[in-house]
Amino acid sequence: MNRRLVPARIAVAIAMLSAFISGCAARHEPPMTTLAPKSDLAQWIYSLFLEVTLWDAGIFAIVVAAFILAIFVFSTRVGEAAAPSSVASDLGLEVAWTLGPALVLLMISIPTVRTIFRSQPRIAPQGSLEIKVIAHQWWWEFQYAQSGITTANELHLPIGRQIRLNLESGDVIHSFWVPQLGGKRDVVPGQINELTLEANVPGTYLGQCAEFCGLSHANMRFRVMVETPDQFAMWEKAQQAAPLAADKAVSPSAADGAEVFANSPCTSCHRIDGVSKGYIGPDLSHFGARTTLAAGIMPNTPDNVAKWVTDPETLKPGVLMPKLGLSGKQLDDLVAYLESLK
Ligand code: CUA
Repeated sequence: MNRRLVPARIAVAIAMLSAFISGCAARHEPPMTTLAPKSDLAQWIYSLFLEVTLWDAGIFAIVVAAFILAIFVFSTRVGEAAAPSSVASDLGLEVAWTLGPALVLLMISIPTVRTIFRSQPRIAPQGSLEIKVIAHQWWWEFQYAQSGITTANELHLPIGRQIRLNLESGDVIHSFWVPQLGGKRDVVPGQINELTLEANVPGTYLGQCAEFCGLSHANMRFRVMVETPDQFAMWEKAQQAAPLAADKAVSPSAADGAEVFANSPCTSCHRIDGVSKGYIGPDLSHFGARTTLAAGIMPNTPDNVAKWVTDPETLKPGVLMPKLGLSGKQLDDLVAYLESLK
């Protein structure tokens, strides 16, 4: 192979690889990055990262300088025989290379430990919004203790208010992680872990279970909608209201779908306020108001809901939800009903 072609090929391979990797993130999705913090907690972690990186860069520069001096200044040249050192040990040097690294570790650990304690006060800050987060294989349940709202996979938070998340697991170990808001925190069965933060920039932020928890671990996503206090209050009000019963005159299909739902096995797993009391799967009382379905793996569109109801196992391997065997008008009606639950 032409030798001059090798670097060119390597460059092309690197360019293709980076294009491939960056292509993994859909362009319209918000970034899952810890480098653009949108909460106090994420900001502390980011500052800590910068601080430690700065110390590391300083140490790296010193090591490189010492290395260059050793090679080019203090080494012997060909033909110059240097007398070997007659000193067996050097107390000063030994103290220096023992104390030096200890000091470096101390400088890194003090801000780290300070951030850890700051991020998990034992008692929830006064006036904080308390939310119980329950991780399930493979979806997230959010219960707002103060307002009685239960929702799934889409967490709404107001800016400018302390948020206290109490994390529990319904089965195995999961990990709650929203890179732009801070984290991660393990969600462990039989234990409540806390996360306290204050979001400060409205927007939608992506979350993901960050602990391998079985077949559909990668399909255990969620999103956090950070809103202004007014927007949040509106959302809260809509969620607290009972879902509107499907009106036969407005949408005959949704009204028929309500009957399909009421007579289906769906009712034993899913709750709809005033309709069914299931608790194994997500609460569907306001399903139509959510932007995604099946723990954030697809946009909430009628087509996707139909696909999901028809064959959940293919879309989310290992899922508990069975195939319902619905088709044709029954399926269309059920989808229309679910989408009407705003
Ligand atoms: Cu839950 Cu991974």
